[in-house]
Amino acid sequence: MTSNLEDQLLALRQEGEAAIASADTLERLEELRVNYLGKKGQLGALLRSMGQMSAEERPKIGAIANTVKEAIQNSLDQQRTALESAQIEAQLESETLDVTMPGIYRPQGRIHPLNGIIDQALDIFVGMGYTVAQGSEMETDYYNFEALNTPPDHPARDMQDTFYLPDGNLLRTHTSSVQIRYMEKEEPPIRIVAPGRVYRRDDVDATHSAVFHQIELLAIDEGLTFTDLKGTVKVFLQAIFGDLPIRFRASYFPFTEPSAEVDLQWNGRWLEVMGCGMVDPNVLKSVGYDPEVYSGFAAGFGVERFAMVLHQIDDIRRLYNSDLRFLQQF
Ligand code: DAH
Repeated sequence: MTSNLEDQLLALRQEGEAAIASADTLERLEELRVNYLGKKGQLGALLRSMGQMSAEERPKIGAIANTVKEAIQNSLDQQRTALESAQIEAQLESETLDVTMPGIYRPQGRIHPLNGIIDQALDIFVGMGYTVAQGSEMETDYYNFEALNTPPDHPARDMQDTFYLPDGNLLRTHTSSVQIRYMEKEEPPIRIVAPGRVYRRDDVDATHSAVFHQIELLAIDEGLTFTDLKGTVKVFLQAIFGDLPIRFRASYFPFTEPSAEVDLQWNGRWLEVMGCGMVDPNVLKSVGYDPEVYSGFAAGFGVERFAMVLHQIDDIRRLYNSDLRFLQQF
């Protein structure tokens, strides 16, 4: 009886270990666990027959039954670990990334050429210690003309055809109005760069638009000279256009004295790219600065003109048409 049960237990262990070692799925392994060690499993069934045993035999068989149970449990654990890692291996294998496969094209946005120039210019001036300033597109006559030394009867007003609003305000014709706005609020030293939209009553053609963009520059301090202006403009233009020849040509603006226009030698031709000058004492007086103490320089240029020169764009309207075939080139 004893040896019979002992043999059966050892046979069960052998059979169980073999079956578990050949289980090839986790589901199958679970079936085997239930079959051998479960409540209604084979080991339990054998042990129930221990009831008929003598008191001496029982502990001995009990001990053997425990080793069988432990052995089967060990086999189950081992096989489970093996199957689980095989499953992970297989998953890794099937998910292998082939880096030589062609990618999936995703449409990408780009920086508009006008914004590209504005960003570049602001970066350059911020790098030289300038602060970005802004004004509003609707202005009063005072900020756009009068405080900039352009009184109502001044002939310079004929240079700019202005959009007047019914209430007497106007759409600013240049970003120079930001100079006054900023100086009224702040004290020198001042170094600002002001980008923005400006408006003129121009008929639209290949080189004109009624709405366009300018960037304004203003520096006010004690002892600033025309040399500072030239150095600043030169550093800026060369950062944008490269190391090209530039020249300063005497010119006239009501808000600067002396005034100059800057030309850039581009493909063998002199191109006018910006206006500039030393801030007129009358402008300083209009914001309450003492021209005996402070001096400064100002400059302004058209962003569209820069973009057209830099990218060889022949028609300003291309910059506003939102034609992707055009914009994708930048
Ligand atoms: N405001 C001028 C224009 O719209 C450009 C300009 C010229 C700005 C000289 C300046 C300057 O600050 O000093 O044509």
